[in-house]
Amino acid sequence: MIWMKKDLEEQIKKQAKDRLLIIASNREPYINVFKEGKIEVRRPTGGAVTALDPVMKACGGTWVAHGSGSADRKTVDGKSRIQVPPSNPAYTLRRVWLSKEEEEGYYYGYSNQALWPLCHIVYQRPIFDATHWKFYKKVNKIFADAILEEIGKQKAILWLQDYHLALVAKYIKEKRPDIICVQFWHIPWPNPEAFRICPQRKEILEGLLSNDLLGFHIRYHCDNFIETVERELETKIDKEKTSIISGGHETVIRAFPISVDFEAIGRKANAEEVKKSALRLKREIFPEKGLLFLGLDRIDYTKGIPERFLAIDRFLEKYPQYKEKFIFLQIGALSRIHISWYKNLNDRLNAMAEEINWKHSTGDWAPIILLRQHISYDDILACYRRADVCIVSALHDGMNLVAKEYISAKTDNSGIILLSSFTGSARELTDAVFINPYDIEKFADAIKEILDMPATEKKRRMKSLRRIVRENNVYKWAGRVFEEIEKFWL
Ligand code: F6P
Repeated sequence: MIWMKKDLEEQIKKQAKDRLLIIASNREPYINVFKEGKIEVRRPTGGAVTALDPVMKACGGTWVAHGSGSADRKTVDGKSRIQVPPSNPAYTLRRVWLSKEEEEGYYYGYSNQALWPLCHIVYQRPIFDATHWKFYKKVNKIFADAILEEIGKQKAILWLQDYHLALVAKYIKEKRPDIICVQFWHIPWPNPEAFRICPQRKEILEGLLSNDLLGFHIRYHCDNFIETVERELETKIDKEKTSIISGGHETVIRAFPISVDFEAIGRKANAEEVKKSALRLKREIFPEKGLLFLGLDRIDYTKGIPERFLAIDRFLEKYPQYKEKFIFLQIGALSRIHISWYKNLNDRLNAMAEEINWKHSTGDWAPIILLRQHISYDDILACYRRADVCIVSALHDGMNLVAKEYISAKTDNSGIILLSSFTGSARELTDAVFINPYDIEKFADAIKEILDMPATEKKRRMKSLRRIVRENNVYKWAGRVFEEIEKFWL
């Protein structure tokens, strides 16, 4: 069965019955910003929001998130609520306000300088700072209070997202043990050896074990989590049921590989607006002839962007006959730039692109275009449509939805994907061409391999990848989470 929007809608209505569905994440799905005296709506880049917005559109309910946009306060009602999407409201967004100090300690600090590098094994040393931790706890309480306020006296299913909110379920259960708490961890869970350096490990684990259901992308991360708990806490592990009993409370652990709205992306990719975007990008950026390679990421050190540049450089050193035959377009959304690691990475990418272009350019051709700006979703889809090759070279990634979005946009079965073996999506997208982003020599050869690959073989692979993403779309992901909730608690 292929899960459709209406199947999920029906399932959640049947299960939730009189319960409010409430989602909470740090990042909000719609951000209001001031631009040139007007208020604009921005869609953030990032996996969690991409996956959950279609789910909320299908099912309704309330989404609690940090109001981070410059015009966010201007657009809410007296209870900090706004109906979204603005063009066709389907659910409520409740914004949570944080002071600069709170955002600094909780988001830039503990979430992104401790937990993010701790869980992504890319050899970036985490920073555990007592003040960051203090604000992480404080902001998790602020979220819990806002959630409880939204729920009021109702029954509810709370679906928490990600590593920013590891303690929320605990604060909720202390006041309302009847609320069904589910958490999805969107990033990898490391092995126990890596996790044990975390000074706050017991509190983090106890927070997560306050949930009734805890989800990761892949089985391997579930196993890592269970082994970590076994090592750190006095608990009972039920291997048969794959659950953990801690202090008399049971948490079921499951793998749910996240995905995208395959059909909607395909439809939109063929829409008039995207065709218009494509015509403009053809004039402004796309190569007139030759191939377009595409990289599209938040600029983050886990994404393996320097490794991509190095592979292009090596590829041209080894195979100079491909000069002028392609352009590599790297689109990068600026992210977390208050953290020095991110600022330095941006500077490094500028320098690398400049140097590689200088080294290999001929006439008015240079191999790399580095575009670092927010681009509209229509433009992104136009890029997917035009790109002959999509490169996803993350050093470690929970899933990576760019790979699945690219495949969904390729309704004509064109294109090919170079995919890092260290992404969660590598487990499913078995017809991609795999790379180890640390092995620049083989990475460069993989670029050559796909360029020389017969068209029939490329088409076969893309067809197979499209079948996989069609069958394992975001509605199936959310549907499976709700099936699991029904099995145990409804
Ligand atoms: O990968 C997990 C995730 O929460 C994604 O949703 C997103 O790509 C990222 O982490 C968070 O990005 P940001 O810090 O910009 O919200």
